[in-house]
Amino acid sequence: MTDTTSFPPLKNDLIIRAARGEKTERAPVWVMRQAGRYLPEFRAERVENDFFKICRTPELATKVTLQPIDRYDGLLDASIIFSDILVIPQAMGMTVEMVPGKGPHFPTPLVVPADMAVQLKEKVDVNQELQYVFDAITMTRHALNGRVPLIGFVGAPWTLMAYMIEGGGSKTLSKAKEWIFKHPKESHELLSRITDVCVDFLIGQVLAGAQMLQVFESWGGELGPHDFEHFSLPYLAQIVKRVKLELGEKAVPMAIFAKGSWYALEKLSLIGYETVSLDWTHTPESAKAITQGRVTLQGNMDPNVLYGGDEAIVAAATRMVRGFGSTRRYIANLGHGILPTVPVEAMELFLKTVHRVGLEVAAEEKAAEDANDMKILG
Ligand code: CP3
Repeated sequence: MTDTTSFPPLKNDLIIRAARGEKTERAPVWVMRQAGRYLPEFRAERVENDFFKICRTPELATKVTLQPIDRYDGLLDASIIFSDILVIPQAMGMTVEMVPGKGPHFPTPLVVPADMAVQLKEKVDVNQELQYVFDAITMTRHALNGRVPLIGFVGAPWTLMAYMIEGGGSKTLSKAKEWIFKHPKESHELLSRITDVCVDFLIGQVLAGAQMLQVFESWGGELGPHDFEHFSLPYLAQIVKRVKLELGEKAVPMAIFAKGSWYALEKLSLIGYETVSLDWTHTPESAKAITQGRVTLQGNMDPNVLYGGDEAIVAAATRMVRGFGSTRRYIANLGHGILPTVPVEAMELFLKTVHRVGLEVAAEEKAAEDANDMKILG
């Protein structure tokens, strides 16, 4: 479990190549939240074990990470380590519970800036607080046996700050917003402290075996363009810069998902992430025009299409793959996490459609290139 020096060779590196801008035989695909509540085998595990117990027990986290890889054998091109973005507030000293049917709950959220001194640790040693994630990553890398790459992840500072202040989910984020508007200086202090932990945590995940990283700014779109630029973007930029600098040659491709922040797409494509993950409010055409091939685009079917029946799924997945339409700089995904009540067959149809259409697109591209070569030669 602790051997991080000799992992089995990778048999499918499509997603890594797509992230680096190299050509792929077809568009790779994975799904945000692919291990989780929509899978009966995960729900069975949850009857036995508390959510954070699964996260904290490498054997269980490994088992659950592999569940979608085994079920959809050969159809997923990446795995994502089973954990949660809220392990960082826990590492910083806060209590977080997962209430079944309700979601995350912080019994004592940060109410006023002075609470930071009382509730948050001065220094956070990720090797001490989050070693269990590193162990789960190492164990999962061995268990995957090179079938697909393993993605590590972290919540972005603004999203984590919002959870730490709201104490859970919220419709308006008015408490967290009160902080940024009333206490901007202290808000920046909190965001900086979270950023430091995110950086150490991502570095540790790579050293433990993560082959790609994704940063989840799930509540990005709650900030308008001006506030996003002040309270989100600088920290997202710091994270990618510091992680890559500290890892040097060991650096792996990084993806940013800022849900709802359509206005920030151009800026997000300029700060160092190889991949920008899109929600469903973008058309492939506009996203490609804005990012100009600088980054790999990932996404972006509305996860609710999976409730629409076979015809709707095939139509939307086809439109998506044809829209992004390339064997370069594209990773297929949903535009947000798969929802807990989605039928497992709907996910399978989505994955199969992406494979089929991806291969068609690749064949068409190849035929067009060959025709072009003939013209040049002729
Ligand atoms: O395959 C995977 O992606 C699983 C690993 C994973 C989980 N959470 C497991 C989980 C990942 C990558 C996350 C990220 C996460 N967690 C995000 C960012 C992605 C997004 O959806 O925007 C956020 C915002 C959270 C916070 C969180 N954790 C919420 C809001 C909830 C409750 C609602 C929900 O989505 O289930 C969780 C709980 C959670 N995280 C569950 C799982 C499988 C369900 C918990 C349970 O079994 O009771």
